Amino acid sequence: MSNIESYEKRLKDFDWSIAEKELDYNKGDSINIGWYCSDRICKQGKADKKALIWEGLGGIEKTYTFNDVRLRSNTIASFLKNLGIKTEDRVCLFMDKIPELYMGFLGILKLGAIAQPLFSAFGDESLHVRLDNAQTTAIITQRKHVSKVRKILDQMPYLKHIIIVDYEGKNPLREREVAFNMDDAIQVENFEISQTKAESPSVLHYTSGTTGQPKGVKHVHYSLISQYLTTKWVLDLQDDDIYWCTADPGWVTGTSYGIIGPWSLGITQCVLDTGFSAESWYKFIQKRKITVWYSAPTAIRSLMKAGENIIKEHDLSSLRHLASVGEPLNAEAVIWSEKVFGKAFLDTYWQTETGSMMLTNYPGMKIKPGSMGKPFPGITASILDTKTFEPINEIGKPGLIGFKPGWPAMMRTYWRNEETYQKKFENGWYLPGDRAYIDNEGYYWFIGRDDDVINTGGHLVSPFEVESALLEHEAVAESAVVAKPDDVNMEVVKAFVTLKPGNEASDELELKIMNFIRKKLSPLAMPQEIEYMDTLPKTRSGKIMRRLLHAKEWGEEIGDISTLEDD
Ligand code: WT7
Repeated sequence: MSNIESYEKRLKDFDWSIAEKELDYNKGDSINIGWYCSDRICKQGKADKKALIWEGLGGIEKTYTFNDVRLRSNTIASFLKNLGIKTEDRVCLFMDKIPELYMGFLGILKLGAIAQPLFSAFGDESLHVRLDNAQTTAIITQRKHVSKVRKILDQMPYLKHIIIVDYEGKNPLREREVAFNMDDAIQVENFEISQTKAESPSVLHYTSGTTGQPKGVKHVHYSLISQYLTTKWVLDLQDDDIYWCTADPGWVTGTSYGIIGPWSLGITQCVLDTGFSAESWYKFIQKRKITVWYSAPTAIRSLMKAGENIIKEHDLSSLRHLASVGEPLNAEAVIWSEKVFGKAFLDTYWQTETGSMMLTNYPGMKIKPGSMGKPFPGITASILDTKTFEPINEIGKPGLIGFKPGWPAMMRTYWRNEETYQKKFENGWYLPGDRAYIDNEGYYWFIGRDDDVINTGGHLVSPFEVESALLEHEAVAESAVVAKPDDVNMEVVKAFVTLKPGNEASDELELKIMNFIRKKLSPLAMPQEIEYMDTLPKTRSGKIMRRLLHAKEWGEEIGDISTLEDD
């Protein structure tokens, strides 16, 4: 049975209480995402249903039922409790996409602590900035990543515990380290789950802005209401589906729709913990008989590049529903997917701060390739004038996307940065920081970001962070970082630098600078190219004009520079 009802009908009848009712939640009740994603599903008679089918390198496989998820998350919660972790303490998850990450996430929530997932490819400096901001009490990690924690340990007096999930006893544990083996531990049948309330904090995700340090986006347990309903209605998950969300839970898609959404609906999901290749992805779909697939434009464009022959070599007939998020999904990719998979990828638009989907190509709705679709029911959206922040009621006229605050999954603040949080609102609207226009049928079309943040392959990169890393190199005098166009990643990072006197521009120096900043940045933020300049374009007040460099890369008209100079 499909969850699909027409978009118009949904709009007419909509109230978030629809989700509250389905989840048996009444205002004022306790609500704990950990319980909803495991214990409740077991109570519904699905204890023996597969919750997670995990595959790692070399085809090794692990399978967990909903009862296993319940027990494992209980066991982790209890272990953390015995270490002395308390309600609202921040516990960082710093792991590859291994089962411990998924169960650990729910365990932290069951304890009433705050889960802080961080992408495991982060280097020690990126890790340090985020743990420092959150004043994290404990970190759960793997042997292969522990050296990064050790490197910065002395600077983190607040970090009391380093929990290693795959300790083999070969090398002695060091200061503050403790071993925990999830599968071998005696499973805790009954854990007293924290009676968290709607507004109790749940997850802290870090996201990059143009200036300053990364921001910790604080979410609460009530986010479940949005995540549950958008998963059900947009991803259209049904009881017998085999779902695959390709995102890493270090990023919000991987938690909202890679853990909370599917498991609160009691759906079987698959995780592939290997790198990307068209071959391995198609094999995975064929082998696991994936029915619903939520992925990202860069992956889709990489698959396009790999061609159609490889598709013909696999049986992908299990696929029935595809969706995408994270960056602009170009019309060609939508049309291509319809041709080769028989199904179009449905674009969805949202962000770390919104916690759940905001604009969606609702199943059953006419697809306009290249458009982000329309506001999810319950979301009031508009295109606003860039100066007055009043809705522009003119078809096709570009402006800022605005959302009326108040949907359940919206962030509650930026961690220890309320000031920046307040700046996200104007005239009663929440501003995600993107520009778009609405067409004559009410569809939203993405134009671009309203700041200098670079979206490379669906990952946000702060130009400021890259520029700062470059400036630390002894030969670099000035730096400016912008996006440059790319076929697959849509945008990649490009750096412009001027050199200090006595340094000669050369390929060798470029390599040296690259190796230097590689230690400071996540692999995703690395520039693809460094261009030497004699001077960088600046405003009269001395601010570097990234916009000019950006325009040069994109072959755009630079326009009237005299106005820019006064910026
Ligand atoms: C930014 C949010 C939440 C998913 C992972 C990214 C861009 C997101 C789309 C889309 C065009 C998109 C926006 C947004 N973005 N989805 N469908 N079309 N752009 O989360 O890291 O917080 O990034 O990604 O610029 O603000 P994020």
